[in-house]
Amino acid sequence: DASDISKGTYEHYMLKEIDEQPNVMRKISQNYLKTDGSIDVEPALLEEMKKADRLYIVAAGTSYHAGLVGQNIFEQVADIPVDVELGSEFGYHMPKLSKHPFFIFLSQSGETADSRQVLVKVNELKLPSLTITNVPNSTLSREATFTMELLAGPEIAVASTKAYTAQIAVEAVLAKALGMAKNLEDAKKFDVKKQLALAANGIQTIVDEKAAIKKLTAEFLTDQKDAFYIGRGIDYALSLEAALKLKEISYIHAEGFAAGELKHGTIALIEQNTPVIAYVNDGVGASHTRGNIQEVKARGAHVLVIASQKYAEAGDQIIIPEIDELISPIISVVPAQLIAYYASLARGNDVDKPRNLAKSVTVE
Ligand code: G6P
Repeated sequence: DASDISKGTYEHYMLKEIDEQPNVMRKISQNYLKTDGSIDVEPALLEEMKKADRLYIVAAGTSYHAGLVGQNIFEQVADIPVDVELGSEFGYHMPKLSKHPFFIFLSQSGETADSRQVLVKVNELKLPSLTITNVPNSTLSREATFTMELLAGPEIAVASTKAYTAQIAVEAVLAKALGMAKNLEDAKKFDVKKQLALAANGIQTIVDEKAAIKKLTAEFLTDQKDAFYIGRGIDYALSLEAALKLKEISYIHAEGFAAGELKHGTIALIEQNTPVIAYVNDGVGASHTRGNIQEVKARGAHVLVIASQKYAEAGDQIIIPEIDELISPIISVVPAQLIAYYASLARGNDVDKPRNLAKSVTVE
């Protein structure tokens, strides 16, 4: 559909795709979660996954970061250990696998060569696999045992936004379906339909605050050469994606760091006015991250805090609306997407086509 890939009134695809995320959440919910409470996931897929003793999620780039978020979701909702692996590493240095591995390939394009070479080996070993992708007839989709669609619509901007949030949403749907198939209490408690509705509303709240986020970006980042995103637990996984977004299109050197690990070396890089963006959505980590914020402030850092309603304190700049912590990156990544966008714009970069990058990388 040609209208799907037009920019409409937008100057850039990236901003259009950021704004589409509430609709993507609704589409995933409508497609997979039926009104009678059932979940539309292939029964044969769930049967196969029930036999697994470990999930191996294989991906690259932003999809790898969505896998790190998914790891928590599968472990908690479906009670199964999960490894998340980079295709470019795993393909050549495959560790000793568990007795009954199940592979999940996460790929927006379904064409990433680094991930595909792992799938080729997985097929040689006759192991079961699922590809979760935005492109149903892609190579990774055709070659895996099972496929699930992201339903994000075409993603044109090189920097991935809506595919990341869609990947987390589909992982949540699958974890719920698997947990229910295993009759788990934790799965019954995880109301994925309600959570996806909260995600849609929460993203909308954030994208409606564009003007404020644009101002914060100018104040904190535009003229800087380095920046840090920090967080714990789910916020650490998120920090990696937030930093990648900033690097890709603003060319500001950024690192995502486990908030508690910064002091073991990297804190040496904090100078007067170094931007540190701290995430406080993870309940277990919240008070410790507050301590880490004080540590970097004491060394001169200019700290911007993105906190969930529940853990917010006076002075925090961006508040994340209510959502289950497990999938909170669906909302809390959006300020980082917008910060990257506005930093790139202010620096005069080509937002949709950053230097040196391709939308899909079909060489190893
Ligand atoms: C490329 C893109 C990234 C993307 C990665 C994985 O490097 O520039 O934005 O995250 O490939 O792509 P995939 O299509 O497999 O998700």
